[in-house]
Amino acid sequence: MIELSDHPTTSDPAAFAGADHPLRQLTRAQAFGEPWTEHDALRVQKIFDERAAAWSEDHVDPIKAAPVDDALDRGRVPLDGAWLEVGSGTGAGARVLAPRVTRLVCTDLSEQMLLHAPDLAPRVRADASALPFADYHFNAILVINMLLFPSEIDRLLRSDGVLVWVNTLGDQTPIHLPPADVLGALPGQWSGITARAGTGFWLTARRRF
Ligand SMILES: C[S@@+](CC[C@H](N)C(=O)[O-])C[C@H]1O[C@@H](n2cnc3c(N)ncnc32)[C@H](O)[C@@H]1O
Repeated sequence: MIELSDHPTTSDPAAFAGADHPLRQLTRAQAFGEPWTEHDALRVQKIFDERAAAWSEDHVDPIKAAPVDDALDRGRVPLDGAWLEVGSGTGAGARVLAPRVTRLVCTDLSEQMLLHAPDLAPRVRADASALPFADYHFNAILVINMLLFPSEIDRLLRSDGVLVWVNTLGDQTPIHLPPADVLGALPGQWSGITARAGTGFWLTARRRF
């Protein structure tokens, strides 16, 4: 894995979510092979449906945008390809992506999160465990503070496609996996480029041949 220098915006996140945070445990279990159940989906959907109105105001600031912008600048991503955002929420990622990439589709499990997102790209309500898109359809997939569904990422990304993984509060993000664990959870062999920006970090991951 290549580690680039910190972006000038980099600062340490305030202490927020420890290793025992329930979403942290769910993130790790999901990434490393626990089955995703209807119960999980309903639980997570309820959490974010209830937070949607506040989220649309509290989670769209420059510090949150910094790692996404920096990943697009330095992460060797295909800006002119087809992009998917998974767990797009109230549009923190779409606000950065939509002006910079050619084609973007946003998806989320929570209808309320999608309803509170700006109309910058098509928004599709779908569970990331079984997304309604053809195999190898996307050049890039953005995942910000969202659970990792490794087999769906692998299924949907073209052979030279790129996963962009962002945790905007670094290791204090409730839904957190460090870059090495993301690379390890994906099926097959993947290489990565990573850097810190804002209070978070980004990873761009591509298959190794
Ligand atoms: C922590 S929020 C992050 C939202 C947005 N990416 C952001 O950074 O503001 C996690 C988002 O992932 C969505 N999510 C969680 N599990 C999901 C699943 N299985 N399929 C699709 N979206 C999911 C939630 O509804 C929520 O909008």
